[in-house]
Parts: sequence; structure tokens; C-alpha cells
Amino acid sequence: MAELTKIVIPVAGLGTRVLPASKVIPKEMLTVVDKPVIQYVIEEAVAAGFKEIILVTRPIKKSIEAHFEPHSELEEALLAKGKTGQLALVRDILPDDVTISTAFQDEPRGLGHAVLCAEPLVGDDDFAVSLPDVLIFNPDGDHAHDLRNIANAFKQNHAAQIMVEAVPDDQVSSYGIVDCGGAEFHPGESHNVIAMVEKPPVGSAPSNQSIIGRYILPARTMALLRQTQPGAGGEIQLTDAINALIAEMPVQANSMRGQTCDCGSKLGYLIANIRYGLEHPEIGAALAAWLKQQEF
Ligand code: G1P
Repeated sequence: MAELTKIVIPVAGLGTRVLPASKVIPKEMLTVVDKPVIQYVIEEAVAAGFKEIILVTRPIKKSIEAHFEPHSELEEALLAKGKTGQLALVRDILPDDVTISTAFQDEPRGLGHAVLCAEPLVGDDDFAVSLPDVLIFNPDGDHAHDLRNIANAFKQNHAAQIMVEAVPDDQVSSYGIVDCGGAEFHPGESHNVIAMVEKPPVGSAPSNQSIIGRYILPARTMALLRQTQPGAGGEIQLTDAINALIAEMPVQANSMRGQTCDCGSKLGYLIANIRYGLEHPEIGAALAAWLKQQEF
């Protein structure tokens, strides 16, 4: 099996859930403590071993790519002032052997369509997909643990991997939901998926195991996406293409060890700031002390 080095990150969305913040600033560029959300997502991918980052974007969201490109004016100014610490923060975001390339999605036609837009860059390789709204927080600080775990499970089990997390029953209609025939989920384990359904109505979902937005998929997925007709919400759904994949090869749902922070929602975004703030070397202790003093 070829090495798993490519990860597709769709960033072309309109960010309607976080308006007005995302009117001009892409939601992926909103700051959690001192870094934009997209930097956490790319750092997770790199720490999990991915080397080729493929952003599916729109020209108007140029600031996302720009964040990872050299900024000569700023770097020269920091150098001239001897601010080497800050210089390292802007210059050394990514290791030298990691590349970022971009594909464009001109119209919002769904997650499946966004992933398909990356086909020319993915080619015949197996690949990962990471949705940038969701940050995965692991209390031990290894936030890439779960992504690394599903990349290994893909290779060992020869099965596509879909990361899942249990959600309250009344929230199933906001997610893709997996049917694993009633399998009991323990953190880190993978179970065969019988079927997947995108945003089932409350009361008709096969389980409460929700797709959180980290996938390891075989190259074949692209061909299936090309045949996928619009589904839930009139959009081309990645869930539907993976459902078709189940007929050809094993697809497994992997129960994550970490906790999700959905930065595409107001509450999730605030929780992310607190979680990552508490572990930040500069402000963590002061934030913890302040939180303790409050009478909520
Ligand atoms: C997408 C996927 C869905 C998944 C969700 C996670 O939906 O289609 O299966 O559960 O991301 O955030 P979206 O949120 O783009 O509507």
C-alpha cells in the first residue's frame, strides 16, 4: 500500500454559523488563544504524519494560504528589531518537508463535492479528510493522537476509517451517523460500519455515534464521489459516497479518545479558547486562577 501522506482540508465554506464574525475573516482564521483555528488543524495533521496538505478553498479566502506563506516585510522588521522569538512564531509554522497546495471549489455544493475538487491533487493515492471546524482536544496534550490512530488502523485493518463520537439523541440530525449493528464503542477501537446516514431525523437514527470530521479513505472514494447524486440538503454528500464504498471494502468507525471542540458554533468556539488557553504556557495558570475565582 502506498504511503498515506495526503490530507484534504475543505475550507471553502461560507461560515454562516459564525456570522457576523466570519463576514470578512474566514471562519478558519478566527483565533483560538493566539493561533487561527486552521493552524491547529494543520498542526494536528502534521503531528499525525501527513506531509501534503491540500486545501479546498475559494479565491476570496486567500488569507488562509497566506498565513502559511513567508511574509518578508514582517520577517525583516522582526529581524531588524532582534525579536527572534516572534520571528520563529511566524517563520516556523510548518516543517520544511510539509507542503500546502490548493484546489478551488467555486460553488457550495456540499462536502462530497469539495473533496472531489481535490481529485487532481490526490490522484491515485489513499488520503485523509479533516474538517476544519472541529478541533480535537486530548487532555494529555497529544491532540494528534486520534488522527494518528485512525491512520494506523487504516493500514493495519485495510479498512476505511471514520472517526466518531457519541452525541445526545436529540442532536443526531446535525451529523452523519453510523450504523455498526449495536457494537459497543470503546475509545480508540474500530468497528465495521453496516451503513451511514447523513443527518437522520431525530428518532430514526441507527445510533448516536456521530461523524466528527476525520476520515481516512481509499483512493477509490474519488470515483464513487463522481457518481454520487445530491443527497441531504440537495448537496453531494461524502457520507453517501462512503456508504457506496461499504459494498466494496470494509469501512470502520473509530471511537475517538479526545473531545471535540466545534469552533463553527459559538459555544464550541468559547470552550476551545478555554481548553487551549488552560494548556498555554504563557497564560494557562493565570486563566485557571481567574476561572476558580468566578462565581458563575
Ligand atoms: C459534515 C458531514 C457530516 C459530519 C459533520 C461534522 O456536515 O457531512 O457527516 O457529521 O460534517 O461536523 P456539515 O457540518 O458540513 O453539514
